[in-house]
Amino acid sequence: LFGEWRLNSSGLNLADPEQLESVQQSLDALADKHWTAMPLINGSPSSGKERLIVNPYDNRLTVGSVVFAEPAAIDEALNEASQAFTDWRLCPVAQRAGYLKQAADLLELHRLELVSLCIREGGRTIKDALAEVREAVDFCRYYAQSAVDLFGEPVRLPGPTGEENRLYHYGRGVYVCISPWNFPIAIFIGQIAAALAAGNTVIAKPASQTALTAMRCIRLLHQAGIPESVLQFLPVGGSVFGQQLLPDPRVAGVVFTGSTSTAQFINLQLAQHHQAIVPLIAETGGQNVLIADSSALLEQLVQDAMVSAFNSAGQRCSALRVLFVQEDIADKTIAMLIGAMQELTVGNPGVYQTDIGPIIDHAALTPLTAHLSVMQEQAQLLYQLPLPDGLEQGSFFPPSLIELRSLSQLTQEVFGPVLHVVRYRESELDQVIAAVNATGYGLTLGIHSRIDAVVNTIRQGVKVGNIYVNRNMIGAVVGVQPFGGTGLSGTGPKAGGPDYLRRFVIEQTVATNT
Ligand code: ALA
Repeated sequence: LFGEWRLNSSGLNLADPEQLESVQQSLDALADKHWTAMPLINGSPSSGKERLIVNPYDNRLTVGSVVFAEPAAIDEALNEASQAFTDWRLCPVAQRAGYLKQAADLLELHRLELVSLCIREGGRTIKDALAEVREAVDFCRYYAQSAVDLFGEPVRLPGPTGEENRLYHYGRGVYVCISPWNFPIAIFIGQIAAALAAGNTVIAKPASQTALTAMRCIRLLHQAGIPESVLQFLPVGGSVFGQQLLPDPRVAGVVFTGSTSTAQFINLQLAQHHQAIVPLIAETGGQNVLIADSSALLEQLVQDAMVSAFNSAGQRCSALRVLFVQEDIADKTIAMLIGAMQELTVGNPGVYQTDIGPIIDHAALTPLTAHLSVMQEQAQLLYQLPLPDGLEQGSFFPPSLIELRSLSQLTQEVFGPVLHVVRYRESELDQVIAAVNATGYGLTLGIHSRIDAVVNTIRQGVKVGNIYVNRNMIGAVVGVQPFGGTGLSGTGPKAGGPDYLRRFVIEQTVATNT
């Protein structure tokens, strides 16, 4: 399997001054560009209500404007995508894969432009933005190869003499791909690439906060040869999306990344309004824990906890939220974490030295601020990094360290740069595992321990999709760490894994009497 899948995309080497300079030059050249996004029905723009998109680093700076689809455009997009499915379903797998490989090459060619745009629009740091393009390229190449390997030929099955049995794979129909703002390139393209590779046509619904980046990606996918009728682009507002798009009988499947509550809403809509049973692939949030016992190497633990909790300003579903630390090493670990937090640079995401950029928008700041005030009453705020001057016009949140008595004090995912610490005694490991499972989430989990028995006990005890031992717990690599969770964290299929595309197809068995 995956014979031709060899290497992940290499991206840029920012230690090389010339390569870093190329990023800065692109950022400067595109600093004032006004980008636009609008519904694309068979590649043609459609009109509607317009909204400005501002830079989360400084809300006075406009990045562009997005037009939201009117009901008539949604209807047209669904119509065109379902008609296009008739041919796309029978398009040879190698041809579909060829388009995706071409898309990967184009993404690499336009890397600097995409990076510059998603820094301005999404507040991604330079490193994060580059990693996104790499991941998107990987998704395209990996799913292209995966489709050829899995569906390129019908599977020959055994049978008695005179009977030929074959298993064929086809796309399901129109897939609605609903992506989040925190990975406006990687997840946006990953969902689309998977659905297309498996033979579906696509309605791509971007997050409204990052619709400009999404639009640029769509244009590149079309340029790569993916027919415009096969890939429709629909920025839509929340209410139209729920009332018109999801209930439509032309929708054959949905892939969604975002909050647990929205996934539950989608599930309900699909169940209530469709006669057919429409599958949902959902990847949602996590109450992600790292368990560190007294055998952990402290420097490594602190470094990995910092990256896991604060990279991308904590705006990753995979991010570390709660560090369980064994009592014996707790004081020292906390002191080292505070020391490391004092070294963090919060600021302009377009500057190489910045570790932590802004929160996506002011609306996303509200639950963080509310959480902090509850924690100040019910828990202990151990440290908060003061924000530097000059960030008042952006949506910034100070990196915070909070000590809890127990994990149950957290009732929902805190989507920002907030790390919680809970102390535990060696004899309480089973209770820690039970507490992790009691959250109902199951996305990522870290273990820092040099004792195999401890690692195995935790690994076997937790119901979690991705486990990371003695390393950080973010940045799953396509084809290397297939990614996805269980329970409140999602429906389970692993993006970037060998079985993912199987979830996007129907199987047809043909038994022929020869
Ligand atoms: N796949 C992303 C990560 O692993 C969310 O961090």
